[in-house]
Formats: sequence, C-alpha cells, structure tokens
Amino acid sequence: MIKVGIIGVGTVGTSVVQILKDNADVISARAGVDIIVKSGVVKNLSKERGLDILLTDNADDILNDSEIDIVVELMGGVDEAFEVVKKALANKKAVVTANKALLAYHRYELQDMAKDLAFEYEASVAGGIPIINALRDGLSANHIESIMGIMNGTCNYMMTKMTNEGVAYDAILKEAQELGYAEADPTFDVGGFDAAHKLLILASIAYGIDAKPEDILIEGIQNISQDDITFAKEFGYAIKLLGIAKKDGNEVELRVHASLVPQEKMIAKIDGVMNGISVVGDKVGETLYYGAGAGGNATASAVVANIIDIARSGKTRPMLGFDKPLEGKLTLKPTDKIESKYYLRINVSDKAGVLARITKIFEDNNISIETMLQRPCSADSANLLISTHISVERDIQNMIKQIASLDFVNFTPVMIRIV
Ligand code: HSE
Repeated sequence: MIKVGIIGVGTVGTSVVQILKDNADVISARAGVDIIVKSGVVKNLSKERGLDILLTDNADDILNDSEIDIVVELMGGVDEAFEVVKKALANKKAVVTANKALLAYHRYELQDMAKDLAFEYEASVAGGIPIINALRDGLSANHIESIMGIMNGTCNYMMTKMTNEGVAYDAILKEAQELGYAEADPTFDVGGFDAAHKLLILASIAYGIDAKPEDILIEGIQNISQDDITFAKEFGYAIKLLGIAKKDGNEVELRVHASLVPQEKMIAKIDGVMNGISVVGDKVGETLYYGAGAGGNATASAVVANIIDIARSGKTRPMLGFDKPLEGKLTLKPTDKIESKYYLRINVSDKAGVLARITKIFEDNNISIETMLQRPCSADSANLLISTHISVERDIQNMIKQIASLDFVNFTPVMIRIV
C-alpha cells in the first residue's frame, strides 16, 4: 500500500481525496497497489470538511511521518512551499505539486535536490491537460519548434464573455473569482504572471531554458477594451491571452501577452475557461491539447495521475526532461529583438494635422502600416486603430513612447501583438 499526505487540503486537495476513493478500483488496478490518503494539512482545523483522513495544522506531522511515501504539496505560494518540499525531499519522500509559481522560480534547484526521488508536477500547467507528459515523454524524439497556447482559464473566460456578451471587465473578473477559476490574487491571472509561470515550466522541458519570470515579456489583459474587441471582430481576429515559446536558430523567445489571433485558427476557437496548447515538433508537426485548465476535479485528475505513476514505478525520468544539458545550448532571445505584427489604439484629439503627425512617427521608426481605421469617440476625440506589418519590438516601444508624449494624444496607446 502507498500512503499519501496532502499539504493544503482546499478545493484541489479535497478532489484528490475524493478521486482516490471514487475511482479506487481502476486506480489500484493501474498502479498495481492500493493508494490511500493518510493525512492532510489544513489551516483551520475547526472547519467541517467531511473527509475521512487525519487532519492536522502542522506540516511536520506529514513530513516526519515515516509511513508517508508521497507528499502532495497544494498549499500554493513560493517561499513556504519551497521549504516544505525541500524538507519532504530531505526526508526521502516523493513529491507531487500543482504549484506553478514555486516551479517558475525553483524548478532547477528542486531537480538537483530530488536526484533519484520522484518529483512530479503535471497539474502545474493547464490543470487537467496532460501537457507535461506529452512534451516530456510523448514528443521527446523532437526538437520543439514552438509552443503557443491559452494557459490561463480566468483570462480566457473573461475575454470570451467580453467578446460574446459585451460584459464589462470588472463584472466578469468578479464572476471568474466566484466560480473559483482565479488565483487568490487575481493580478496573477489578469497580469499574465500565472500563464508566464506555466510557460517557463514548458520552456524548460522543451528547450532546457532556465529563465525566471522577470527575464521574459509578460503583459496581461487589463488594458483591453470594447474598442479593441470591435477592431478584432471587424478584421477577423479573436483576442486571447497567449503564452508563446518560439525557437529561432539558437535563441528561444518566451512571451505572454494579449494577442490578436485569426478567427480561423484552432486556438481562436477555444472559449470560456478552457485551455488549449499547440506544440510543433520538427518530426511530428503540429499537435494540439485541449481541456479544463482549472477547477478541483480537473486539476486533481493530473495530481492523481502523478501519484499513480510514482506508485507504479518510482522514479522513471529526469524531472525537467533532460538527463544531461543539450549541446549547443539554446539561449533566451532578448525581449526587444522579438518580431511581430502589432495593433495600436491611439486616442487623439480630432483636429487637423493629427493623422499626418502620427503617420510621420511611424515612418521615422521604420514601421509600416497595414490597416487603419478612425472611429469617433466623442465630439472632439477619436480612436485611431492601426495594424502594422512585421516590426521589431524595440522600434514599436520607442514609437509608443514618442506618440504618448504628443499633446494631442489623450493616453498611452494600447498595443496588442498579432500572431
Ligand atoms: N488561475 C488559473 C487559471 C488556475 O485561471 O487558469 C489554474 O492554474
């Protein structure tokens, strides 16, 4: 029998206990051994949870319990969780975590510490979608050319509702929180950080890139308005928060931002809280993964899969997918070298000469306009909605600064990259 201890019995932890009980027949047959949750750590012991496991408010009760084989860390956060999993490894326990923030910062240290102990984290990226398994094992014969996907259910839910029903940003964020999709601090969702944590984990498995959140381009959806959605619809795009990893020679670009995606692309059709990730390998071509990226049962499905895998075989593979460093190591492409098509919304005073001044600044920065719309906003202001041909990030950022400083421009232009 394999005994599990769960540190952080919240929504996901409760689902882990429930799945191990509900599906004990198939789980035991697949693992070749019975698996039970012996105990769990909660903050508030007086709250009734209806679970038939031992509950404690002291993580050491699990970490020092010689009967526990696998520690499941579901407490979230970085520093405290890091201390807990380090202690679990020091006490020779296998670890399963769903904690993407922890891995975004400490995955290489944890890989070194784990050595021959299993350390699994399938639920950390895209909840129930087995994307880590697919990338680390199923596609291990390939050089990975690109990864592009919807990795945050909260943002996708919000963008879908704002697009299809015209719901206001604040109202829809509140709804996503009530439905339990959002992080404890929803800035992690709408600011793009949650998606970035997940992208960094995938980038390690695909490319061996050891980057931290502060090394890559991360933007959220906070500035998207109904004006941008109108433009997107008119020009045949959906607006999605995407995580993108792309290999270009020996460099890899990693970025998270709101993106205009052509409506006919599969990724553009992924709506609501669902996640979807496209991975292109040099031999396999494009593969696509779709499913629930958040929610108790979906996330717990991935946690339990890791538990079964460990119960079945112990440690079977290097944690981040590479047994030794890749020769001709790939490096992170500097953010200002990224190339893309761009869309800009420039809110201006509607008077003679304004358009000419703006387009001159485009020319000065070597940026070529592809499409342009002018939409009146009020009696004396208008939105200029402009898309560009392929341009360089550094040039666009310089141009935005110059445009923002003009006296007839009402606020810093909103920019969305077109993929
Ligand atoms: N807040 C995350 C999301 C939960 O919305 O996708 C799953 O990581």
